Amino acid sequence: MLSVEQVTKCYGDFTALEDISLEFTQGVYGLLAPNGAGKSTLMKMLATLLFPTKGRILWDGEDIAFMGETYRGILGYLPQDFGYYPNYTPRQFMRYAAALQKLTRAVADQRIDRLLELVGLSDAADKKLKKLSGGMLQRVGIAVAMLNEPKLLILDEPTAGLDPGERVRFRNLIHALANERIVILSTHIVSDIETIAGQIIMLRDRRLLCCDTPSQICSRFRGKIFQVPADVPLRPHQHVLSEGQGENGTVLRILSDMPPSAGVAVAPTLEDAFLAIYTAGESEHIR
Ligand SMILES: Nc1ncnc2c1ncn2[C@@H]1O[C@H](COP(=O)(O)OP(=O)(O)O)[C@@H](O)[C@H]1O
Ligand SMILES: [Mg+2]
Repeated sequence: MLSVEQVTKCYGDFTALEDISLEFTQGVYGLLAPNGAGKSTLMKMLATLLFPTKGRILWDGEDIAFMGETYRGILGYLPQDFGYYPNYTPRQFMRYAAALQKLTRAVADQRIDRLLELVGLSDAADKKLKKLSGGMLQRVGIAVAMLNEPKLLILDEPTAGLDPGERVRFRNLIHALANERIVILSTHIVSDIETIAGQIIMLRDRRLLCCDTPSQICSRFRGKIFQVPADVPLRPHQHVLSEGQGENGTVLRILSDMPPSAGVAVAPTLEDAFLAIYTAGESEHIR
């Protein structure tokens, strides 16, 4: 189990994260927050690339800052911008990564074949990386992060730049990887994680806003999300979350404590919750 205990991270005078406490057991955790919220900062601390200014992070009760190689054996990490050699093939790149991890060639080759198959890249194993699509490259990155068969897999914005088909494929892959390990992935796109993350972690104003199931987060907004015609005048404290096309023209989804003069209550989605929290500044419901 991974525990984050009252962690604060400052860059010089700037506090990026403050007093974050979290516990991770098995399953998929989605770190969902807008750009600049501190997702990468938190993930880098979980990967021991950065260290907390205050607080500590424990793996099964032991401070990860002092676990060295043991922790690196547990951890698989895909950085937000991972570097690669464009003229390498996925197989060569994975062999190189395996050598850095001191895996023997025999073990490495066996794992590489299996992982390339798992991420659906067996046919591209010997093509140059510079010829691969964004989605294929991300899958190479995930395969590399999986080389040591990590108990903790951290993926920073793994869906950035994927097309819709690649997103579906990615969701299926994460399901396959989530067995018996902790997977933590970050994104600022709700649809990328609402169906794969058992728990959603949101950060706001440097602090932890919530860590809960998607349905629990949605339920806090039940009875407060309405679909209304675009020409209905809004009162103060009614916030437009999004705009869409209804059967009779443009409709708005709004956040309101009281039923509006026209329109219907709708079941809140995670997207509604995300917009309510980050664009309408609504965080009381969720605390
Ligand atoms: N090395 C750094 N030095 C100073 N400020 C940084 C550094 N890295 C990130 N920040 C700042 O910390 C905040 C959080 O950044 P980051 O963790 O990258 O957010 P996210 O991944 O959610 O987009 C941002 O305001 C960012 O500008
Ligand atoms: Mg980031």
